[in-house]
Amino acid sequence: MCGIVGYIGSDLACERLIEGLRRLEYRGYDSAGVALIDPQGDLWARKRVGRVAELDDAVFDAPEAQIGIAHTRWATHGGITEPNAHPHLDATRQIAVVHNGIIENMHALRQQLESEGVHFRSETDTEVLPHLIRKFYRGDPVAAVRATLRLVRGTYGIAVLFADHPDRIVAARLGSPLVVGLGEGETVLASDPQAIIELTRRVVYLDDREIAVISRDGVKVERLDGRTRDADITLIDDEAYGVADLQGFPHFMLKEIHEQPESIQRCLRGRIQGEEGNAKLGGFQMDPRALVRIERVIALGCGTSYHAGMVGAMALESLARVPARAEVASEFRYRNPIIPRDALFLAVSQSGETMDTLGAVQEVLVKGGHVAGVVNVVGSTIARTTGKGVYVHSGPEIAVASTKAFTSQVTALMVFTLMVARTRNLSLDAGRQMARALEELPAKVHAYLRDPGPIQVAVEAVTEAPYVLFLGRGFSYPVALEGALKLKEIAYIPCEAYPSGEMKHGPIAMIDQGAPVLFLAPADQHRDKNISNLKEVQARGARLIVVHTEGDDELAELADLSIPVPAVPDYLSPLITVLPLQLLAYHAGLALGRDVDKPRNLAKSVTVE
Ligand code: G6P
Repeated sequence: MCGIVGYIGSDLACERLIEGLRRLEYRGYDSAGVALIDPQGDLWARKRVGRVAELDDAVFDAPEAQIGIAHTRWATHGGITEPNAHPHLDATRQIAVVHNGIIENMHALRQQLESEGVHFRSETDTEVLPHLIRKFYRGDPVAAVRATLRLVRGTYGIAVLFADHPDRIVAARLGSPLVVGLGEGETVLASDPQAIIELTRRVVYLDDREIAVISRDGVKVERLDGRTRDADITLIDDEAYGVADLQGFPHFMLKEIHEQPESIQRCLRGRIQGEEGNAKLGGFQMDPRALVRIERVIALGCGTSYHAGMVGAMALESLARVPARAEVASEFRYRNPIIPRDALFLAVSQSGETMDTLGAVQEVLVKGGHVAGVVNVVGSTIARTTGKGVYVHSGPEIAVASTKAFTSQVTALMVFTLMVARTRNLSLDAGRQMARALEELPAKVHAYLRDPGPIQVAVEAVTEAPYVLFLGRGFSYPVALEGALKLKEIAYIPCEAYPSGEMKHGPIAMIDQGAPVLFLAPADQHRDKNISNLKEVQARGARLIVVHTEGDDELAELADLSIPVPAVPDYLSPLITVLPLQLLAYHAGLALGRDVDKPRNLAKSVTVE
């Protein structure tokens, strides 16, 4: 989603800003722009609809500026047009603003400004900001930004340039992340550490309601209400961000699918206690006496993270015998939910920035609830807001469609399940078996990816079809949902997922001769029931693509297309059965000529509601 980069130093700002925008491209966007203060003290700005590459071509005549701000926009208010792209300038072209988030009272603010004679050039909510800042500007940039933000309702991460102050960028945040990177004689601002990691590991995160003045020597942070705070410097670790390059793969999605043996291994490292049949996740800050007091668990998340939460909740119920469920964060946060005192909420999020999940976390906290994060991005807002939980350590996930983060989230939730289960009725022996099964997982994932079966044939079946149905039961139902989500996201093929047993109550009407049905039927407790459901769709002419356990000849024979996967215990099957579905979506997207790493309309980190 929208990205912000700011630069002040002694290099050519434009080049550095474009470089930063490129590192944010993975988040998804539809237009881009840059503003600089040239050596004569004038503001220079350029915007383009489309990719950062197009903006790069358009800035050939950029002045030799050493300060600037830049933005990638994901449209919310107003269409995808050049006037709507950021930066937005005031009428005198003295002030430039880039903004992430949404100004909710923009209509009232705009009406007021228009009645005062201000002429608007875009349809965006953001444009009220440069005009308001201009209105309040009496030579003190911070005072003008502060006065403006006092009037604003909604969320923002902003960066502001003042033509008559070429020595500083003013930034502020409420609900949209911003981080400042401290280099030698240069300072960078970004909405995502990924944009600054190549410059420095030394960063200062802004918190909500903070305002920062960024100069080439560093950053000064204040609260919006005037209180000061020390700018605590955090060192971000390379493993969490790494340098995102393709390492020979044609796309990040394929690279990330193939990274899963290592990313799962990283998630497990140092956490499994094989002898004790137990695990340790220190970040939860819960000893067995605290774990045993958890009476229920509610996982909150969006998209793929919600599906991971569903798998985790099933594992907690079946293995730890703790009542557990998963909820879509955007629904949960606004229905005045009951927050039981004995419940543990888990905020599951790859980016740690998803606005709806963060909103749900805040609702739990306001009601005095207990919430921990299951997060990938170290230092992200959800990780810092919950203050406890587990980092899933999948490494940077660049493709918009989540793959390795899903398997790492599920792995982390399984490790947590083992810990909780050991405080209840899971015996030492059963705990050892589960620990061993977890440790064997990376090798099984590797074995499958080395020989993934007839994915290309499945691709032909789904790309020719008007509709694809995914079916699964128990642990395979969230996998069916995840497989259908991936195929929608990457290939834009209409599809849906249903619990196999529920299929006869509706979706079966969609099945006619040759309709592809993707059936998840690992050798678990539902296997025989699945065979009956499978025959029901087969009798109506469905073309069955079946993901089943290796050596299950009966299922292999029933299938029109059989995709065997390595055997694992029931509760770990999602970590294996999801792999062919990830590959199917990737190759189907490719076959249909889609931009697989940056599918249309989607964003990696959804920082608006
Ligand atoms: C977006 C992405 C999805 C992701 C979801 C949740 O919709 O396109 O791939 O699953 O957000 O993101 P999170 O970062 O919270 O896991």
